[in-house]
Amino acid sequence: MSISRVLTGITTTGTPHLGNYVGAIRPSVNASLDAGVQSFYFLADLHGLIKCPEPERIQRSTLEIAASWLAAGLDPERVVFYRQSDIVEIPELTWLLTCVTGKGMLNRAHAYKAAIDRNDQAGLDQDADVTAGLFMYPVLMAADILMFNAHRVPVGRDQVQHLEITRDIALRFNHQYGDHFVLPEAVIDDDVATLPGLDGRKMSKSYDNTIPLFGTRLQLQKQIAAIVTDSRVPGEAKSTEGSALFQIYQAFATPSETAAFRQAFAEGISWADAKSRLFERLDHELAPMRTRYEGLIGDPVRIEEALRVGAGKARQLAAPLMLSLRQAVGLRGLGGIGGKRPAEVAPDDAVREELKPPVFKQYRERDGKFYFKLVGAQGRVLLQSRGFESPRDAGEVIASFQKLGAGAWPLHEGHLQPLADVDREELAPALDRLVV
Ligand code: TRP
Repeated sequence: MSISRVLTGITTTGTPHLGNYVGAIRPSVNASLDAGVQSFYFLADLHGLIKCPEPERIQRSTLEIAASWLAAGLDPERVVFYRQSDIVEIPELTWLLTCVTGKGMLNRAHAYKAAIDRNDQAGLDQDADVTAGLFMYPVLMAADILMFNAHRVPVGRDQVQHLEITRDIALRFNHQYGDHFVLPEAVIDDDVATLPGLDGRKMSKSYDNTIPLFGTRLQLQKQIAAIVTDSRVPGEAKSTEGSALFQIYQAFATPSETAAFRQAFAEGISWADAKSRLFERLDHELAPMRTRYEGLIGDPVRIEEALRVGAGKARQLAAPLMLSLRQAVGLRGLGGIGGKRPAEVAPDDAVREELKPPVFKQYRERDGKFYFKLVGAQGRVLLQSRGFESPRDAGEVIASFQKLGAGAWPLHEGHLQPLADVDREELAPALDRLVV
């Protein structure tokens, strides 16, 4: 029996809440323990850009979501856990798929249509403030899925149409260019509860009624206190039907705990006591994860490393597939035609100089402190550190750059002096060339 591949993505625009945990994180972590599947979980940061034009929020959300999944027990050794934007093959595949995608089908995609309808209602131009990114959302998602030939894709109901579109695109591509893609299926788990939020509606960022997954104990307690209840007084029997408090409890408790809680409702438990029981039950499950989460959030380099390892695993699959897709569509080298191979072209000296990785220089200043600078082509200083107390401290920052390239930069910004004439965009590829 061949191993079935399960894949799902999480858009990086927010902070995980209890609803995400119950609806996605917990079932996915459990499913990843199944020996018969190979799981792919990724941070859909390219999708994040569609909704969120705030760079700091994209980055912060990537960190928080990755830390949440790891804290909840996702084992990156067992699964392929990566960041979408690290897989350069994905945007490349997106283009190949774009060229077989019917525009009419995208016109009918829900998210785009909803935006158009809103504009119509407001009497605006149909496409006012609608980006081509929103329009293309389903094609990028198809690339995510087809890149790894996933068989099953666990998603919420709102994503089912995206899977239909993915299948349609895969069919068209296969028809045009040969059998390259598996047709994936959406998996909707009806057992997984949709958690109600503070106001009783579905817990969702768009209703602003969420309970963050890893706030402090005190925050959790306060938020639970804010769950809407009815006006029944202590001693009066309470209905479990339609009670957000009860449903949240149920999502965390064993059947026998739930039965006991139901009994307490019938016996007229006060809302204050019910809330404190819910708090204790939640905290019991969340506390150990919260401790892990805080450790992870405080050590972003560790997460960065895990994601890079994940990207390496993912690209081992993506790169060869992409090569064969390029062949299939006719993006081929011309050398093969006459059987002769083209000569390697040697880069000229100027290019060669630019391609040399920059080098670190460590030194001590008269203030007794230890410094480093990063010197690039033509002796240009690209980074200049502040003073460190010991050469070891400086060395650690250097080592981190050699491990993470540009990824280390935001982590050490506090140790660096701003250089007015160095352009961030120019610097990032130079830093990436440091990775040893
Ligand atoms: N669109 C998904 C959501 O909003 C996130 C996502 C992006 C995704 N790419 C995916 C989910 C691929 C499954 C498979 O929930």
